[in-house]
Amino acid sequence: MMQAQSGICAEPNLHASYLMFDIAAGQEADVRQALAHFPELCRDLETSFPDAAFSGLVAIGAAVWDRLYTHRPPELQPFPPSASPQFQAAVTPFDLFVQFRADRFDVLHLAGQRLMARLAGRVRLREEYRGFRFLDFRDLTGFVDGTENPQGAHRAEVALVAEGPYAGGSYLHVQRYVHNMTHWQRLALKEQEDTIGRTKQENIEYASADKPQTSHIKRVNLKSADGQSKEILRQSMPWGTLEEQGLYFISCCRTPTHFNDMLDSMYGSNGQGHLDHLLRYTRPVTGAAFFAPSETFLQQGGVI
Ligand code: HEM
Repeated sequence: MMQAQSGICAEPNLHASYLMFDIAAGQEADVRQALAHFPELCRDLETSFPDAAFSGLVAIGAAVWDRLYTHRPPELQPFPPSASPQFQAAVTPFDLFVQFRADRFDVLHLAGQRLMARLAGRVRLREEYRGFRFLDFRDLTGFVDGTENPQGAHRAEVALVAEGPYAGGSYLHVQRYVHNMTHWQRLALKEQEDTIGRTKQENIEYASADKPQTSHIKRVNLKSADGQSKEILRQSMPWGTLEEQGLYFISCCRTPTHFNDMLDSMYGSNGQGHLDHLLRYTRPVTGAAFFAPSETFLQQGGVI
C-alpha cells in the first residue's frame, strides 16, 4: 500500500507555510536523499505536537523531475501557457514546492527550520509565503472559498492517483494570485456576487439560469463527455500583507487535465470565449506544475 503524503488531503486549518526551491546544480543525489527523509520529518512533528494538526507535502517540479528520478509520472507536464488572446498568465517553474500546514504557527516555523537544516547548500529558496485562515474560510474577496471541495473519503478519490507505481501521488498546480483590493471593493455587492456566481454573506449558489457565463463558478464547474464532474481538491489559502495580498491557489488531482481544462475555461481559450471576470480583479503572478509522490516513493528514492 502506497502511503500518500499527509498534506495532500489535509483538512483545512489555520496556518500554512509555502516554500518554493530550486535545486543547485550537482546536488541532485543529496536532495533525493533529503527528500527520502521528508515523511519522517513530518511524522515527527505530527506526533510531537498533536494539538497542531500538522501536515506536510513536498512536490517535485515538472522540469526537474528527470534530474532526480529515473521514472516519470506519465501525465507530468509543464504548467500550461495561456492560449487566450484575452489573458496572459505567469508561468514560473520551480523545482520543489513544500506546503506545511498547522493550527500552530510556531510548529510551522520549526518545520521550516528542520527542512532548511537538511537542504542547506543544496537548494535556493525562491519564494516563502505564509497562508492564513480568513474569517469563516473566506478568500480576501470576502467570499467563502472551498465550499464545493470534495469531502471525506472523496478527497482521496479526487486527489490521489489510484493505481500503478505512482499510486498515492498527486498532480499539483500552484498559482499565487494578487488581488486588486481597491478595484474589487469599489464594486457593488451584486457585481461581486455576479462575478463569483454565489451570494456573499450567505454563500448560496446562484440558480443555473442566473449564473453569468463570465462568473467564476460557471467557468470552472466542468463535466466530461460522459457527464462526470471534473473535480479537483483545492488546498488554497489567503496570503499577504496590507500592501500585497491574494490567494495562494493549490490544486491537487489524480490527473492534471481537470485543472488545465478549468484554466482554459477561465481564460476563455476553450472555444467558448468567455473570460472569467474574477480575473479582472486578481492576477496570477506565479504558475507551476508538480507531482507530489507517495511517501513510499520518496523513501525508496524513486525506485519503483
Ligand atoms: C484568486 C483566484 C481564485 C479565487 C478568489 C477563487 C474563489 C472561489 C470561490 C469563492 C468559489 C466558490 C466557493 C467554493 O465552492 O469554493 C470557488 C469555487 C471554485 N473554484 Fe475558484 N477561485 C480562484 C481560482 C480558481 C482557479 C485558478 C481554479 C481552477 C483552475 C478554481 C477552481 C474552482 C472550482 C473547481 C470551484 C468549485 C466550483 C463548483 O463546483 O461550484 N478557482 N472559487
